[in-house]
Amino acid sequence: MARFANKIAVVTGAGSGIGEKTAHQLAAEGATVILVGRTPSKLERVAEQINEKKDGASVVFQADVTKEEDIAALSDFIQSEYGTLHVLVNNAGTSGNTTILEMETSEWDRIQDTNLKSVYLVSKSLGRLMVDQEDGESDRAIVNVASLSGHKAGAKIPHYSSSKAAVIHFSKSLALEFAPHGIRVNSVSPGFAETPLTEEGLKNQRFEDAIKRNTALGRVGKPEEIAQVITFAASKEASYMTGSDLLVDGGWLIK
Ligand code: NAI
Repeated sequence: MARFANKIAVVTGAGSGIGEKTAHQLAAEGATVILVGRTPSKLERVAEQINEKKDGASVVFQADVTKEEDIAALSDFIQSEYGTLHVLVNNAGTSGNTTILEMETSEWDRIQDTNLKSVYLVSKSLGRLMVDQEDGESDRAIVNVASLSGHKAGAKIPHYSSSKAAVIHFSKSLALEFAPHGIRVNSVSPGFAETPLTEEGLKNQRFEDAIKRNTALGRVGKPEEIAQVITFAASKEASYMTGSDLLVDGGWLIK
């Protein structure tokens, strides 16, 4: 039996990269996936691809995950259409490249709001739905996408790395709070993966070479390799795992 048969799942930032691949994998294993993001055209392209296949299904929901009103509308939509939610993947995120001394406070806020505050807002609103809508399904899961940078500091990304370190710890706190409700909460920390987020950087051969040199496996990751671990954390195969962070970095941290 497909691991996500009859499950309702939300993936934020599903229009590209890791979120797109995660949506594909959840749907391929039977889930109905609600694709959340700001740009309908990107989400619709993913939905079309998913819906062409027979296994799962997907719907598009336009929302900015930093906006409480958008998230409230998403929660209402899920409540009225499905009455329940089994899987939430908080994947939407962004990055920057500025030193603390040069940083505008608005840039600090942009990164913290997109990467951290959004995880709080979405987990709170949809978590309420997951807690309240107990439909006899014993295993529910939240997976928050953090980063290798949440483990290891990097120059020019103090706002990014601090937001991702906070996502790892937020996930552990939420795991404690939600455990009595049968909701597991884990984070996944990707290393460098080829996505639109890293596209510009990877155009620089020296940057790409440095990543390869610093990675035990000697290569940049693929978004589907991160998505596989997110999908595992969301599945019943991870039924005894909560409050964990899964590092998927090709062995960067051990080098
Ligand atoms: P991506 O840029 O392809 O995906 C991020 C998605 O989030 C985009 O579709 C973007 O439109 C969406 N998004 C951004 N702000 C949003 C908002 N306010 N509301 C709704 N959607 C929003 O990049 P990628 O790499 O797939 O990123 C996914 C996650 O993985 C991010 O949280 C990122 O920080 C994390 N990550 C990625 C790494 C990489 O090497 N690609 C490494 C470590 C972490």
